[in-house]
Formats: sequence, structure tokens, C-alpha cells
Amino acid sequence: IEKVYAEPYRLQFHFSPPEKWMNDPNGLVYNQGIYHLFYQYYPDDIVWGPMHWGHATSKDLVHWQHQPIALYPDEHGLIFSGSAVVDKKNTSGFGTNGEAPLVAIFTYHSMEGEKEGRDDFQTQGIAYSLDNGATWTKYEGNPVIGNNGIRDFRDPKVFWHEASQQWILTLVAGDHAKFYASNNLREWEHLSDFGKTQGAHGGVWECPDLFPLPVEGTEEQKWVLIISINPGAPNGGSGTQYFIGDFDGEKFTSNQQEPKWLDYGTDNYAGVTYNNTPDGKRIFIGWMSNWFYARNTPTEKWRSAMTVPRELSLEKIGDDYFLKNYPVEQVDGLATEILAEDLQVAPSTSETLKVDGLNQSQIQLKTSSRDYTVIFKNDLDETLELTMDSTNSAFIVNRMKSGKVDFHSEFGNKKHVMPISLLDKESHELKILLDWSSIEIFIDGGIYVMTEQLFPTKPYTTLVIKNGSADSEIHLESIKQMESVW
Ligand code: FRU
Repeated sequence: IEKVYAEPYRLQFHFSPPEKWMNDPNGLVYNQGIYHLFYQYYPDDIVWGPMHWGHATSKDLVHWQHQPIALYPDEHGLIFSGSAVVDKKNTSGFGTNGEAPLVAIFTYHSMEGEKEGRDDFQTQGIAYSLDNGATWTKYEGNPVIGNNGIRDFRDPKVFWHEASQQWILTLVAGDHAKFYASNNLREWEHLSDFGKTQGAHGGVWECPDLFPLPVEGTEEQKWVLIISINPGAPNGGSGTQYFIGDFDGEKFTSNQQEPKWLDYGTDNYAGVTYNNTPDGKRIFIGWMSNWFYARNTPTEKWRSAMTVPRELSLEKIGDDYFLKNYPVEQVDGLATEILAEDLQVAPSTSETLKVDGLNQSQIQLKTSSRDYTVIFKNDLDETLELTMDSTNSAFIVNRMKSGKVDFHSEFGNKKHVMPISLLDKESHELKILLDWSSIEIFIDGGIYVMTEQLFPTKPYTTLVIKNGSADSEIHLESIKQMESVW
């Protein structure tokens, strides 16, 4: 595997499969010292095909070990996205050895059903593992949630709801989310629906997630409902919206009408969070691609990667709640050697730095200037430009000349814009992670985030910071080399 991870564009500190096609993260769960990452996987090609659950494990969320495929298609269909729980009280009865079983809850997709033009081709099934995820047995009573004619009925996310002492399952049904309850993970009762007339509806709803979060600096707790949508994202194609509201064990309610977006980049999709984390943190991983061009990106042996794991938190600013997402601290631990540090970019000037290793680095900036451009460049003059534009209250990513872009018409056709409403702060912090074919930009602790793929023909080695402000400074705190985890 070490050798394999030296291919062109291969990410060095992000998870990507050893070979072949990957999409959504699935079954994110922590159990007995191990973080599990399952994922939508097609082992026979580098384009989407009959879905399996691939599997990897980690002790720290940044170093991963590949494991054998966990779930294979069966007579009920392909294995689409879903979640996993630790059944601590053995409510399912699957536990026979006194240990809490791991239970996976997923969507069955029947290809025949779909071909026949029926609407009921997706149902929900379960499987269990008595050896912490090493081997899996499908439940003989599958499917556990049938389908009486609902299209795009999928992606169950289950968690244990302490207050009502039951399992809660959220799934999507085309243009809304549905909630179910169970005492044993096998029998499910439909509780309620949410979302037909709220949020974004430019495409099909997918991959829901529902969880509580404390509001920073208060005693308040709110519930967050994450919904991926494809197409209909702010910069085109696939994206992830969220709702802030309340959940009472039966219904999710939110007075939010307009969509809020977890990430304004084009490449963070189908992200969901871990169940059962040891420290109670809410940790999110997304798939770093977009259904527009996911099948066409110029890699050869494998396709696509996951975002770095990000911790979610909730901040109230004025009357509004913001879901923040920011790299877990283990990612900082990979930033070792200092490549550059402590550089001031004075008003109306620019600085150019030659940095070997720039294409696998973490960059930290503090800026009171709200008009600047950060440019990444290689010796072929391929450039990636990040611009803060105070006149238009926007942060803009321009990857139109960043390298290979012509593999799909939707990849390099326009600049990607993130509206920024909170420009009245004294200064702003930026953390940027660049890893060969991805960039993740976090502004002010993850209030504003953009995640994008890019495919420079040669690694970027030059960084230019142009300060367009006549009276404020930019401080480059550091550029650090990121260690390879493979
Ligand atoms: C999201 C998605 C899910 C589905 C899976 C199939 O990217 O479309 O809704 O379960 O991918 O691979």
C-alpha cells in the first residue's frame, strides 16, 4: 500500500481507498478504541457500480488501516449508505457473547426494481458484528423497513435517544426527512416528517444526520439536522445544508426557512457524524467530491478521498445559529516542519514565497485586511486563487486555471463564491489545508468553510499574498509541512 500512495494526485494526509471507486462515508462509529470508517465502494472499477461497504479503522482519526470489505450486495440489493451503532444494552438480541454488538443500518437498492420502473426499489436493512467490525452477518428478517412506493427512500442514520430511551432513525424520502423509533433496531415505527417546505430543494435530499449540540458559551442545547442535496448546492451540483431546531423524541421542528450551508466549496458531500465518540465530540467526515464530475476526475487507480475529520460546534451570533466545522486537533499534530513563518504583508503590497512542500501543507493567516488574494502557483503557471472581497462581502475560490480542468465542463467553468456576512470583526483567521489534489479553507474557526478538489499538473511551489487594503495588514503566521499518514 505504501507504494500505491505515491501516484499522481494521491492525497497524503486524507483517507482515500487503496484502489477503485469510493463515495459516501458510512457507518461512522467508535467502539473499543477503534474509529470505524465504512464507505460506499465499488471494488471492480474506478466509476460508480454495484455498491459495497468498504472498511477502514483508526485509533486517532488520521492514520488509517484498510480492512476487508464489510458488506456485499445480496438478494435484496446493493448496499447503499447508512450508519452503525454500538448496541450497548443488546436491545437487538444479536449479542451472544456478552459483548455489545455493532449494528449497521443501511439502504438496500434493488437494481431490478429500479429497472422495472417501480418506485419502491429502496428498503432498509441491518447487519451485525460480534467482533468489533471484523465480520458481519446480515439479519435474516431483512428488510426491516419496507417501502410502499416512495422514491429515493434511503440513507438511514440511527442514534440512541437518551431522553426517550429508544433508537431514533432518520432517513430521506426524496424531498423530506422521515423519523422512526425502535426498541430493538429490528422493528421501526414511523414518527414524523420534516422539510417539504423548508430549506433548499434544487435536488434530491440524501444522507441525513440528526444530533444535539450545546450552544457555545451558554446552557442552551439545539438540535442540528444535516441534509445533503444533489443537485442544488450554492456553487453547483452536490452540497450539504443544515437546519437548527429542536427534537422532542418524535418531531424535529425548526423555524428556519432559508437553507444554511455547511461548506460553500463544491467538494464536500454526503458528510455525516460519528456515533459513540469517547469524548462526546461531534465529528464529521464528508466525501470530497461532487456528483457533477465525480466519475471524471483525472486519477487512474483510485477515485476520490474524504475530508479531514472535522469537529462540529454551534455558535450563536446575534439571533442566528452557525454550525461550525473545523479540523480535529489530531490534524494539527501532522503539521511538523515549519516551511515559513511570521511574515507581515503591509497594506497595498504583495509578498512572494518559494516553498518546497507547499502542496502538502497547513497555512495559518491572521488578517485585518479584508481585501486580499492568496495565489498558489507551479512552474507551469497553473494557479489557484483565493480572494477575500469586502466590496462584495464574499470569499472566492478560482480554480479555473489550477491545473487539469477540462475533464468535465462543470469543473473549471466558474469561480466559486461564499457570501461572508460577518465582516465587522477586527481580524480574521484562516486555516488552509492543501493536500496534492484538495484544498480545505476554514475561516474564523470554521464558520465559513470551502472544500475543493484541484488537479495541478505539477505541485504548487510558490505562494503569493497580495494585500489590496490601503490600511490593514495580513500576517502569515506559518506554513507547515503536513506529514504523510500512508
Ligand atoms: C449520496 C448517495 C446516497 C446513496 C449512495 C449510493 O452520494 O447518492 O444517497 O445511498 O450515494 O452510492
